[in-house]
Amino acid sequence: MTAWAVDQASLGELVDAGLTSIEEAMYQATSSEVEVLRDASRHILSAGGKRIRPRLLLLSYLALGGNDLERVAKPAAAVELMHTASVVHDDINDHGIVRRGRPSVNSIWGRTFALLTGDFLFTAVYELMAPYQHLNVDLARAATALVEGETLQASAVKDKIFTRDIYMRIIALKTAALFRAAGTIGAKLANGSSDAVAALSSFGFNLGMAFQIVDDILDLVADESTLGKSTGIDLEQGRGVAVALNDAGNSSSNGRHDIADPMDQIKRRLLEGNTIAEAREQAELLVQDAIVQLSVIPNSHYKEELVGLANLVIERDY
Ligand code: IPE
Ligand code: IPE
Ligand code: MG
Repeated sequence: MTAWAVDQASLGELVDAGLTSIEEAMYQATSSEVEVLRDASRHILSAGGKRIRPRLLLLSYLALGGNDLERVAKPAAAVELMHTASVVHDDINDHGIVRRGRPSVNSIWGRTFALLTGDFLFTAVYELMAPYQHLNVDLARAATALVEGETLQASAVKDKIFTRDIYMRIIALKTAALFRAAGTIGAKLANGSSDAVAALSSFGFNLGMAFQIVDDILDLVADESTLGKSTGIDLEQGRGVAVALNDAGNSSSNGRHDIADPMDQIKRRLLEGNTIAEAREQAELLVQDAIVQLSVIPNSHYKEELVGLANLVIERDY
């Protein structure tokens, strides 16, 4: 191996070591003597998941010169636990029966225990974040946004008004805010300049927007076993990017109004039109915008990994 290749390998090892510390921090924070909480938490954590948010936080930290893996692991674990809590609760709301390739917590333990497991995962965040003073504010704002986004989504579906603007507002709150917090927290932990913090916050936000749009496309087009979670939920419930792009709220041909229609028929119509292509183009633009933000931070292996992460958001099929 050349000296350069050795360097690259050790840079990659730091990321792997960081991710391992994050896993350990999550397991430590969720040990409980109460069997259901411990088992259900283990069930959802050990099922894997892409770990994109903690990876974003870790890479933002490393890209700005941070090198204390102990210090970065806890907030990264907190971000992932908050996300995991949100999907456990989301599966109760959405009647999701498969998550991360396994039966969802609600489908094994029932709604009550799933609700409590989600609460337990959320509360673990307090202890993890306790030593991080003002960074708590960044994460708390993302938590509030997430709940606001999920609530606005439920209201929009109930009121049958699911326009493009409302959709963008919902995904900014329910998904992009936590991605932004991951970028912000990683950058602040590394004592980044205010420009660098702003760049990584904005990178995270744009990535989060693109991530949710792609997720909504996959909900429509992907195979349930590849995706590892229940699909078709968005359309069934009158929401998601395809519904928004068709301005379901103002039309009688899509969305909630058509729930009685056979799913296949609606799905075929969306797939035949250019809705999916339009949504994908929007996600690609957001990722390009995200990558442009990185111009203010120094070139490094970790910056390249951030660019790779952004491209993965577009290219993923699960
Ligand atoms: C699922 O997020 C929820 C959304 C915001 C779309 P992920 O796709 O990151 O879920 P896991 O963690 O990999 O299971
Ligand atoms: C996931 O939302 C939960 C949050 C973003 C808070 P979705 O309902 O859109 O995601 P999946 O498809 O179930 O993962
Ligand atoms: Mg869902």
